Amino acid sequence: MAIEVKDHLFSLSTNNSLYQMKIDEYGVLNHTWYGAKTSMDMSYIEDYPEISFSANLWDTERSRLYSLNDRLLEYPGGGISDFRLPALSVSVRDGSCALDLRYHSYEVTDNKYELSGLPASFEGKGKVQTLKITMKDTVYDIYVDLLYGVFEEENIITRAVIIRNLTFFPLRIHKVMSACLDLPDNEYEVIHFHGRHAMERMMERTSVDHGAFSIGSRRGQSSHQHNPGLILARKNTTEVSGDAYGMLLVYSGSFLAEVEKDQLDQLRAAIGLGTEHFEWTVLPGEKFTAPEAILSFTEAGLGQLSRQYHEFIREHVIRSEFVHKKRPILINNWEATYFDFDGKKLLEIAETAHDLGIDLFVLDDGWFGNRHDDDSSLGDWMVNEEKLRMPLKQLVDRIHAMDMQFGIWIEPEMISEKSNLHHEHPEWVLRSPNRYPARSRYQLVLDMANPEVIDHLENVFAHLIEENGIDYIKWDMNRSISDFYSPSLSPVQQGEMLHRYMLGVYDLADRLTSRFPDVLFEGCAGGGGRFDAGMLHYFPQYWCSDDTDAHNRCFIQYGTSFFYPISATGSHVSAVPNHQSGRVTSLRTRAVVAMAGTFGYELDLSALDEKEKEEVIRQIADYRRKQELICEGDYYRLTDPNTQNVCAWSFVSKDKRKVLVQAVVFEHRPNAKKPHVVLQGLEENGWYRRKADGKLFSGNALMKAGIFLPNELGTDMGYQIEFERIEKKESITMN
Ligand code: DGJ
Repeated sequence: MAIEVKDHLFSLSTNNSLYQMKIDEYGVLNHTWYGAKTSMDMSYIEDYPEISFSANLWDTERSRLYSLNDRLLEYPGGGISDFRLPALSVSVRDGSCALDLRYHSYEVTDNKYELSGLPASFEGKGKVQTLKITMKDTVYDIYVDLLYGVFEEENIITRAVIIRNLTFFPLRIHKVMSACLDLPDNEYEVIHFHGRHAMERMMERTSVDHGAFSIGSRRGQSSHQHNPGLILARKNTTEVSGDAYGMLLVYSGSFLAEVEKDQLDQLRAAIGLGTEHFEWTVLPGEKFTAPEAILSFTEAGLGQLSRQYHEFIREHVIRSEFVHKKRPILINNWEATYFDFDGKKLLEIAETAHDLGIDLFVLDDGWFGNRHDDDSSLGDWMVNEEKLRMPLKQLVDRIHAMDMQFGIWIEPEMISEKSNLHHEHPEWVLRSPNRYPARSRYQLVLDMANPEVIDHLENVFAHLIEENGIDYIKWDMNRSISDFYSPSLSPVQQGEMLHRYMLGVYDLADRLTSRFPDVLFEGCAGGGGRFDAGMLHYFPQYWCSDDTDAHNRCFIQYGTSFFYPISATGSHVSAVPNHQSGRVTSLRTRAVVAMAGTFGYELDLSALDEKEKEEVIRQIADYRRKQELICEGDYYRLTDPNTQNVCAWSFVSKDKRKVLVQAVVFEHRPNAKKPHVVLQGLEENGWYRRKADGKLFSGNALMKAGIFLPNELGTDMGYQIEFERIEKKESITMN
C-alpha cells in the first residue's frame, strides 16, 4: 500500500521515496521525513533541547522543551509561536490572526482527488491513492484539508489544501501555500529559473543562507521572470547522482516560493499563491482551494528528477488527447511577415511549406479587426477581409486543399483601446476607479474575473473554430497585469481579483479545449511567460520563448528541461541573422536545436534558395523519423552550457535501443582537444552501433569515456549522433 496509517504515523511510499508525518501528543502534525526510503518511524529525528526564545504552546503545561518554532511541521499556521514563515495566514472578525491547527481526522481513498476550477494532475494509468488529513483550529471551526496524491510508480507526491470556514463569520486568508516542506538539515542548494522576456528559465543554483530566500511573480502570470518551481539539491548533487527535491506549482498566476534556513539550521521550503495583492474572504459555509503542488524526490541526481517530472506531466498533467500524438510540423508566419501580409503572401508561404513537407500552416497575429500593428483591434476577432483580400474560410479551404492543416493565433485575455469591443464594453477592462490603466504593448487586460467576459470569449472563439474549420489555436498573452482592480468585483473582493482572473482563464481554457478536443492548442505568453504546469494541463505544447536564436535557445531549453517535457516545448527554425540577437547560425544548427521540441519553422520559406530548401526537406524527414524518440523517449542533459563549451542532450528510447545525441559546440578552440560528451541512460553491457560510420561502442564505454564531437571551425556548430543497440554477438570484441 502506498499509504499506511499506524499509531498516528502517516507513511506515504513511492517506489523510491518515503514521505512521513506524525501526530504528536498535542495533536500537532509533524513532518517527520521526506526523502530516501527508510523502514521506521522517523519522528526520532525531532529531538530538541530547550531552545531559548522559542515559546511553548500553552497546553504543554510548563514544559520548556516543546516549541513549534523548533519542530518540523507539516502545515504551519501563523501567529502561534512558530516564528518561521507560515504556510497559512488568516484573520478572523476580531482581527486576531492566530491559527492553531491540530489533527481532526483522516481518510484514504483509492483514487486521485480533484480540485474544482483548478488544473490538477489526474489518475491516468497506474496506481494512485489520496490521503486527506483534516486539521482544525483549536478555537474556531476553521478546517484545513491537507490533500496528498501518492503516485507510487512515478515517485510523485502531489499536494493541495482546502480551507473550510464553518464558523458564522467571514474568514480572511492572507497567505496560502500549497505545499510546505520542513527538512531537518541545511546542506542544500536551491535551483530556480529566472529570466526575462526572450530569455526565460535561466537556471541558477545558489546556496541557502540564514534568512529567507524567495522567488515569485506579482504580475498575474507565472511570468518570464521566475518559473513557479524550485529544486533543493545537496551540494554534491550532480546530473547523475545525489539527492534532489522538486516543488512545482500547477498554477499560472502570481506565486511565491520561499526557502528559509532557521536558527537551528533546518530548512523550510514552501510554494503557493503570491501574497502581494492577495486577500481572500471565505464566507461562512464556503471553502477556498489552493492550487496543487507536485513534489518529487530522487537520490539519483537532477537528470532523474527531471525525468520523473517529464513522465508525470506527460501522463498525469497534460489532459489533451494530443499528448502522445505525433504533433504536426508547422510553419508560422510571424517572423516571416510580422503584420505585413495579405492572403496571397500567406498562400505563397503555405505552398512552399507544403512542397517541403510541412503539415500545418499557422496564421499568427494581425489577421483580425483593423490590425496592421500592435496598437489596435484586440477583442475584435473578426477577420480583416480587406487585408487578407479573401474571407478567412477561403484561406482555410485553400490550405486544406493543399492537404495541410490550418492554425490561427488569438489573444483572448486582451483588449485594445482602438477596438469595437472597447467601445461596447469599457467596463470589461481591468482598471482602478478614477485612474487610467497602464498600457503595455499598447494593450489593456480584460476582466477575466467577470463570468460575462468568459461567456463572450467562449462564444467568439467557438464560432471562429467552427465556422472556419480551424485545426490549431495559438493562445497568446502579451503583457503582465498591472491594474489590480476588477470592476466586476465588490471593493472587499479586490484582493481576490488576481486569483479570480486565473480561474476565469482556466474556465475558458477548459471550455474551449473540452468543446474542441480535436483542435491542437499551443500556449504562449510573449513566448514562455506562462510556461507552467497549470497551462500545460489544457495545452499540450507551449511556445518556449520569443528568442529563436539557436545559441540562446540552448540556455532557454536547458532551463526549461528541468521540469517540463520536450514534447511540450515549442521550438522553431527561424531566419538569420536572427531577429532577436542578430546572430548567424547554420541551418543545420538551427534545426538541431529546434528538433528538441515540437518542431516547426518560422521564416519566409519562399526566400530560401534551392539548396536550403533541399536541406529543409531532409530536416523534416529526419525529424519525422526521430519524432517518437524525441517526444516519448527519456531525456538526458549531458552538459551544462553555463560552464561548458558544449550544450548537449540526448534521447534514449524506453527499451534503451535507440539513442540520439544532439549537441551544439559554442566555439572552435584552436589547438585544443576535440569537444567531448559522456552519455547516460544506456544499457551498460549493451553494444551500440554509431549510425554514421557503423563503429561499435560498449554502453559502459559511452557512459564512462564518452565520445568526441568534431572540432570544426566556426561557432555554434550543431551535431546529431545516433546509436542503435545491437544484439550482442560472440564475435563482437573491442574494436
Ligand atoms: C508574442 C508571441 O510569442 C509571438 O510568437 C507572436 O505570436 C507575437 N506575440 C504576436 O503578437
